[in-house]
Amino acid sequence: MNAQIPQASTSTPLQQSEFLLVGCRHGSESALEHRQRLAFPSFQKSYWRKGLVTFRIPSHIVSKPEWCHFGVPDDVLEQLVFARIGIRSLGQITGQTEDERIAATHQLLGSVKVNAVHVWKRDPRLQIDTDSIQHKITALDSFQEELITSKQNLILNCVVDSVDRWWIGWHVGNTQTGQWSGGYYPGEMPAHAISRAWLKLDEAIARFGIQFHSGERVCELGAAPGGACQRLVEGQLRVVGVDPATMHPQIAEHEQFTHWKKRARDVRIRDFGDFDWILTDMNIAPASTMASLERILSARSHKPRGIIATLKLSNLSHAEELDQWCSSCVAWGYHPRVQQLSTGGQEICLVAQKKSDSRN
Ligand SMILES: C[S@@+](CC[C@H](N)C(=O)[O-])C[C@H]1O[C@@H](n2cnc3c(N)ncnc32)[C@H](O)[C@@H]1O
Repeated sequence: MNAQIPQASTSTPLQQSEFLLVGCRHGSESALEHRQRLAFPSFQKSYWRKGLVTFRIPSHIVSKPEWCHFGVPDDVLEQLVFARIGIRSLGQITGQTEDERIAATHQLLGSVKVNAVHVWKRDPRLQIDTDSIQHKITALDSFQEELITSKQNLILNCVVDSVDRWWIGWHVGNTQTGQWSGGYYPGEMPAHAISRAWLKLDEAIARFGIQFHSGERVCELGAAPGGACQRLVEGQLRVVGVDPATMHPQIAEHEQFTHWKKRARDVRIRDFGDFDWILTDMNIAPASTMASLERILSARSHKPRGIIATLKLSNLSHAEELDQWCSSCVAWGYHPRVQQLSTGGQEICLVAQKKSDSRN
C-alpha cells in the first residue's frame, strides 16, 4: 500500500484536489488499475485498499476545465469500467471519536457549500452507522439545499474507510447515477424475484438508460432460473429464454414467455429471427459468450436493436480482452459501453446498441 496521502487544502480545495478516489467492487482493484494504465497512463496510483483506489491526476490534466468545474468527467468513469463511482478527494479524516472527525470535516470544507451529502462505506460489510454521520455532516453550515449554480449539483462524499478513517471528497451529481450514494444502485430486489439476475438487469437498465418499447421481443441466452426474464415480462416484453436448465414455474407459465430448452449453439440461426434485443447471462468463459453473439450478429441482416451481455470474469485477467470485445461490437455495427455493476458479481455488463439507435 502506498503511503502517499492526499493533502487537504485550506483555501479553495475544490479547485485544487489532484486526487481521484474510485470506489470499486472488492477484488476488482487490479482490473481497475489495468484500465487506468491503458486509458490514463499519466495518472499515478496512490493510496489503495480493497474497494477503494486513489490516483494522483497530473496538473496539466487537472487544470482542464472539465476537471476544474465538473468533478470527474463522465468518460473517465466509463473508461475505467470497474469504477462504481469517482470523486475528487479532498483528503482523509482521522480522529478518535465521530465528533472529532465531524469537526475535522468541517475544517476541511472551509467555506465550500455543497448541495447534498453521501456517506458510504468502502466495504458494505463494515458495521458502522452511516445515518449518524450523514445527520451530523448535513447539520454543518457547509450544507445548503439550493444549487450553487444552475449547472452544478455538488455532492459531498464521506467515504467510511474504517472505524476511525474517512475520506472526504466531492463529485457533481448531474446524472441519475450521480445521485446514487457511493455509486451503489439504490433499487431493491422484490420479494417475488426468482433470482438476483432480476436486480442486476434492473440496475443495467437504469445505469445505461436503456429504453425498451412495450411488446418488443427479447431473447436471453442463459435464462434459468429466470429472474432477468421475469424482469423483462414485467416490462411488457415478449421473451424467449434459451437454457438447457429448468425455468422457475413462475416464469415458465407466463404467457409472454417461451422456453427453448437447449444450449445457445443448438438454436438455428434463423430462429433468432426478429428479436429486438439479445441478452446473455451464461456461466461460460467470456470468449464463448462473445462467440455466441458473433454467430448471431455477424450472420444476419436483421439485427437486434441492442445487446445486454453479462461477461463472467472467472479470471480477472479476462478483463484484458475487453477492448477486443468492444471492437467486435463496433464491427457488428453497435456502439458498446461496459461497466461493472454494483449488484453483480465478478463480471461486467456490456451494453451495445445499434449505432443508428444508440440513444434509444
Ligand atoms: C447465471 S445463470 C443465468 C441466470 C439467469 N439469467 C436468471 O435470470 O436467473 C447461468 C445459466 O447459463 C446457462 N448456460 C450455460 N451454458 C449455456 C449455453 N451454452 N447455452 C444456454 N445456456 C447456458 C446455465 O444452464 C445457467 O442456467
